[in-house]
Amino acid sequence: MQNNIVWHQATVTRERREQMNKHRAKLLWFTGLSGSGKSTLAHALEEELYQRGCRTYVFDGDNVRHGLCGDLGFSDADRTENIRRIAEMAKLFVDAGVISLTAFISPFREDRDRARGLFPHGDFIEVFVDCPLEVCESRDVKGLYKKARAGEIKDFTGISSPYEPPSKPEITIKTADREVADCVNEIISSLELRGVIANRVV
Ligand code: ADX
Repeated sequence: MQNNIVWHQATVTRERREQMNKHRAKLLWFTGLSGSGKSTLAHALEEELYQRGCRTYVFDGDNVRHGLCGDLGFSDADRTENIRRIAEMAKLFVDAGVISLTAFISPFREDRDRARGLFPHGDFIEVFVDCPLEVCESRDVKGLYKKARAGEIKDFTGISSPYEPPSKPEITIKTADREVADCVNEIISSLELRGVIANRVV
């Protein structure tokens, strides 16, 4: 497939973009059950980063499935392909100097590890949004758990399709009884510690 295709080397490199942006480019890969708070957290974190002058972009499961991955469903194979496309896309965004945030259930460890493998060591930051199924189900923001329990949606993660929690995520955020702002602060501190963004001036 890749015959006769030569990689073109850019003069405007990732390093130069990072220098201009005054922050590093990274991928924050949020994973967790539907309703665990991935999108809420990713967008709240993005807002905070934006206010600090960072270049960011959030890839969101529900949105991406309207376009780029609109042809995919929720079989194991389709989820694998969904994650593959997102990871490749996010890789381009990181190369563009952007702090990229992805919010997908990404239930399979193997798929997430494959995504991780596309990035240099330290660039892929796995954020496990850890929230018990009972809590996600009681939130049922989109009413999908109810439908899944009624058998109206097949292969629903946590009900009729598995979720494999990360074994060694860089960051774990328990969202069950915490304020969003509190969770965002924790991730911001971790990004400061990792030298992704400059420390807050106090
Ligand atoms: S993933 O498994 O391939 O990573 P993704 O994050 O893109 O999933 O999409 C999950 C969203 O699709 C859920 O938040 C929910 O709104 C919706 N959805 C629809 N059907 C299902 C299903 N069978 N399992 C999980 N989520 C579903």
